[in-house]
Amino acid sequence: RPRVLSGIQPTAGSFHLGNYLGAVRQWVALQEDHDAFYCVVDLHAITVEQNPKELRQNTRVSAAQLLALGIDPDRATLFVQSHVPEHAQLGWIMQCLTGFGEASRMTQFKDKSSRSENAVGVGLFTYPILQAADILLYQAHYVPVGEDQRQHLELTRDLATRFNSRYGKTFRLPEAYIVKDTAKIYDLQDPTAKMSKSVPGGVVELLEDPKRSAKKIRSAVTDTGREIIFDVENKPGVSNLLTIYSALTGRSVESLVVDYDGKGYGDLKKDLGEVFTEWVTPVQERVRMYLDDVASLDKILARGAERAREVASVTLRRSYEKIGFVLPE
Ligand code: TYM
Repeated sequence: RPRVLSGIQPTAGSFHLGNYLGAVRQWVALQEDHDAFYCVVDLHAITVEQNPKELRQNTRVSAAQLLALGIDPDRATLFVQSHVPEHAQLGWIMQCLTGFGEASRMTQFKDKSSRSENAVGVGLFTYPILQAADILLYQAHYVPVGEDQRQHLELTRDLATRFNSRYGKTFRLPEAYIVKDTAKIYDLQDPTAKMSKSVPGGVVELLEDPKRSAKKIRSAVTDTGREIIFDVENKPGVSNLLTIYSALTGRSVESLVVDYDGKGYGDLKKDLGEVFTEWVTPVQERVRMYLDDVASLDKILARGAERAREVASVTLRRSYEKIGFVLPE
C-alpha cells in the first residue's frame, strides 16, 4: 500500500475549519487504503514561544481531535513528533544540505517573521527543513496538505533529490496531495485571506461553543449583489461558504446553488450555521471522551510512536551510512 504522511501543529489547541477541510478530512479518507502516518508536530510548535503547560495540553487536545475526527489508531499510525527522535536527527542532516538562499525563499517564513512582534528564532527559519525530514523519514508517496504547504513540499523534493544524487538513492520523492476544492478555506471576515489561527477574524474553531461558530458564520462577509452563485473571482465570500457547506454535507456546489435559487445570503448563512453545529457537536463530545481518559490516549500515542520508530530508524540508519558516519553497533 502506498504510504502517506502528514502533520499538524498543536499550537492553538483547537483546529479550525481550514485544517479540517484542507487536510484532516483527507487523512481520514486516505487511511482506508494507504499506510498512513499522522503526527502532531510539537517540535514545529516550539519555533515560536510556547507555554509548557499549554503545549502539553494542546498536544493531547490535538491528538484527541484527530481521533474524534475519524483517525483510527488501528489503521493509521498516530504519534507525537518528539516521541520519535529520528525527526530531529534527520532534520539536522537536511539542514546541512539546504542553501541559505533556498531557505530564505520560503514565503511562510517571510509571512510569519514579518508579522511577529517578538524576536524571530532560527527554528522558525529552518522549520520547513524539519518538515522535509518528517516526510522523508517515512518514504511517503503522498503528503495530504492544504495549498499553503505546497512550497514546503517542493523544498522536500529538492532536498531528497540533492541527497540522492550526492550519496546515492536513499529517499523517495514525495508528492503533495492537495484536494483542489478545499485546498484553501478562506477567512469568513476577509474571504481573500486564508483562514488561519495567526490572523484572528473569521476563524471557525472546532472546539469553541458551536453557538459562537454559528454566529461567526451568520456574520460572514458576503458580497455585493444578492444571487447565490459560485464565483470565486467576484463572489469570494459566498463561494467560500458554498465550499464549506458542500464539504460538510457531501452535496455538490451545483445542487446547493439550485436549492438556494431565489433565496438570500441570510438563509444560506443561517443554514450553514446549523449544518456546522450538527456536524461539530458529536465531534466535540468525542474529544471530551478522549480527554477524559488521558492514560488511554497516551497509550495510543505510545503505540503509534513505536510503530513510527520502526520505519524512521531504518531510514535514518541508511542515511547515516550513506553520509559516511561510522554506524554505532
Ligand atoms: P498547520 O498545523 O498550520 O496546518 C495543518 C494543515 O491544515 C492545512 N490548512 C488549511 N487548508 C485549507 N485552508 C486553510 N485555510 C488551511 N489552514 C491550514 C495546512 O495546509 C496543513 O495541511 N507545516 C505544517 C505542519 C507539518 C507537516 C509536516 C505537514 C509539519 N511537518 C509534514 C505535512 C508533512 C503546518 O504548519 O500545518
